[in-house]
Amino acid sequence: EKYGVNINGTDICELRAIDYADENGHYNVVEYLLQNGIMDNLKEDSKFLTSKFPEVKLFSKSINSYEDLYNFSIENNEEFWRTLALNRLEWFKEFDKVNNGLDFNDYENYEHKWFINGKINVSVNCVDRHYKKNPNKTAVIWDKDEPGTEQYVTYSELYKLMNKFSNMIRHFNVKKGDSVIIYLPTSLYAIAAMLACARIGAVHSVVFGGFSSESLASRIQNCQAKIVITSNQGVRGGRFIEFKQTVDTAIETCPFVEHVLVYKRTDNPFQVNKDKDIIIDDIIDTFPDECEPEIMDSNDPLFILFTSGSTGKPKGLVHSNAGYLLQASLTQQLVFNYDCEKDVFGCLADIGWITGHSYVVYGTLCNGGTTVLFESTPTYPDPSRYWQTVERLKINQLYLAPTAIRLLIKHGDEWLKKHDKSSLKCLGSVGEPINVEAWNWFYEKVGEKRCKIADTWWQTETGAHCITPLPCGSNDILKPGMAMRPFFGIQLALMDQNGNESDTKHIEGMLCIKKPWPSMAMTVFGDDQRFKETYLKPYRGYFFTGDGAFFDNDGHIKITGRVDDVMNVSGHRIGTAEIENILSEHPDVAESAVVGVPHELTGEAVFAYIVLKETQKSEQEIFKQLKNLVKKKIASHAIPNTILVTPNLPKTRSGKIMRRILRKIASNQIEDLGDLSTISESNVIEEIIQSFRSMS
Ligand code: WT7
Repeated sequence: EKYGVNINGTDICELRAIDYADENGHYNVVEYLLQNGIMDNLKEDSKFLTSKFPEVKLFSKSINSYEDLYNFSIENNEEFWRTLALNRLEWFKEFDKVNNGLDFNDYENYEHKWFINGKINVSVNCVDRHYKKNPNKTAVIWDKDEPGTEQYVTYSELYKLMNKFSNMIRHFNVKKGDSVIIYLPTSLYAIAAMLACARIGAVHSVVFGGFSSESLASRIQNCQAKIVITSNQGVRGGRFIEFKQTVDTAIETCPFVEHVLVYKRTDNPFQVNKDKDIIIDDIIDTFPDECEPEIMDSNDPLFILFTSGSTGKPKGLVHSNAGYLLQASLTQQLVFNYDCEKDVFGCLADIGWITGHSYVVYGTLCNGGTTVLFESTPTYPDPSRYWQTVERLKINQLYLAPTAIRLLIKHGDEWLKKHDKSSLKCLGSVGEPINVEAWNWFYEKVGEKRCKIADTWWQTETGAHCITPLPCGSNDILKPGMAMRPFFGIQLALMDQNGNESDTKHIEGMLCIKKPWPSMAMTVFGDDQRFKETYLKPYRGYFFTGDGAFFDNDGHIKITGRVDDVMNVSGHRIGTAEIENILSEHPDVAESAVVGVPHELTGEAVFAYIVLKETQKSEQEIFKQLKNLVKKKIASHAIPNTILVTPNLPKTRSGKIMRRILRKIASNQIEDLGDLSTISESNVIEEIIQSFRSMS
């Protein structure tokens, strides 16, 4: 069956995802429909469309709605992505095939390959082409910590800085395929460093500035990075953060690191190690501002980003050049109804997370947009920071995490009132489930009931949005707290308790994705086996997300949260096992079990059960030491909120800790435990309940 476009009852043209070239270059029907909001019912009159697409053909299916276009994108999946990849990206050499046709059934042999044999460079797509067309357009607005000190950077300036940076790291012997660690605050140099790596084909791994030296060291070791790019200090919320010191400690265990490139974010002095340290500020201008881009294959790695899983150490997810860039840019534009010509995109995430990668940097720049780099916090110098920033920079799309919303609700509505938010057109939420109260406040108080909210579900693994109401400019209905629908080209499945795909509505289950999509992570760096076992093995034939979801009667989707042993604290992802491993290192701790419990501000909080050995120390002393240990070994955001000493931990026959029960107790849902008498460990559980009660 063929698809076509039908306007006001008139069949207009067959919808083939052909690459239709008009005088402006590539253009086609799919792109036209996506950009002009099929969901709004096409506003253009039919004559216009026929003149644009003269190949009017007979067809039997019409594209009249979101569903129609979505179905088209699934049934003609290759065609759909082919046409967009050709339209939106600039290629040195176009690809031969959209993908290798593999699905997840034979997962042992799955290989993620998209846009096969295409040759491309991400930095050319993100900078060069816009620099050529529009050199004086603002590419980046760096909103520095101190309000009012923002820096506007044009495409021309970014182009030159990126090229100098590229020549500089090449000079220090970084070659195509080498790993580079970027441990920088959200700053202009961080973007320059990422783009420079992309330009010369180096694989960057940005490490969030909140991670401790030990976390940083394990990431440097995992990638075997020869160079680390950092700054002397960071500045956040009026305070200095010692980036360089953390790097110095980290590389004590990484002798293979040849150079540490240091950018001076502040004028404060810092320790310089003559053997290894290079001060970027002193030399960058000695490098030429033109740099030949490396010709990359579509499936060469663009970056590695570490994230926590339910077991073991954080894993480095590897993302591709072409597939990643395509979906990041497509969603950035469509989901937020982003006007690439004139909108200012305000994604307030740190560049150390995937949100920063896809929506602060790659997606927005690939679209030739203006992106805001936000260095500060929601409450610096006071809780009006976001709103004054919206007013000052005239932000059109504001994209942030529910944790920040909940925090700002607590501070009261007064802070909002003083600021002009009329520039806002669309709002976005990301990183954790958004509760209805936060959603309503965001909608009413921030968006003044004028702006749609895109509650975007995705993950480090998915690279770009996979579930979201779409697009923000459409008449798509919104339901508070619901991520709503799969994005075009994305096929979801909900698995029931028996591990079968469920096709009923009004049902909760495990969220899986059925078919590969372009921006899916290719593998876990250095451990493809782990990639397959984590994501492709749990449900044969599907990609398992680790999240639970609820599909309502209309088939709309609500994400219910992680179903594995991964916690989400303020939108930061942490594995329970990671923390348990650290707690168990303490000489007085015999055993530990960590669970996430609901928390009104941070979404979830870390709750640790510990069993102590015989010791002279007081519990308070041990708690303090444990908290310090977690901070030192992982990061502040992983510190347990509560530590509870219990005589024992409940376990299954095979020795697995019964976390489900521990989670219920820690969340004070003791009545929900049911009849304990049937559980062999019931006395252990009784003891724990008693410890919990005496604590609270
Ligand atoms: C996990 C992924 C998505 C980029 C930032 C976090 C949770 C993400 C939503 C949402 C409910 C969400 C999921 C997911 N999550 N977005 N809109 N509603 N939950 O990326 O660190 O890889 O974490 O964040 O649990 O699995 P990440």
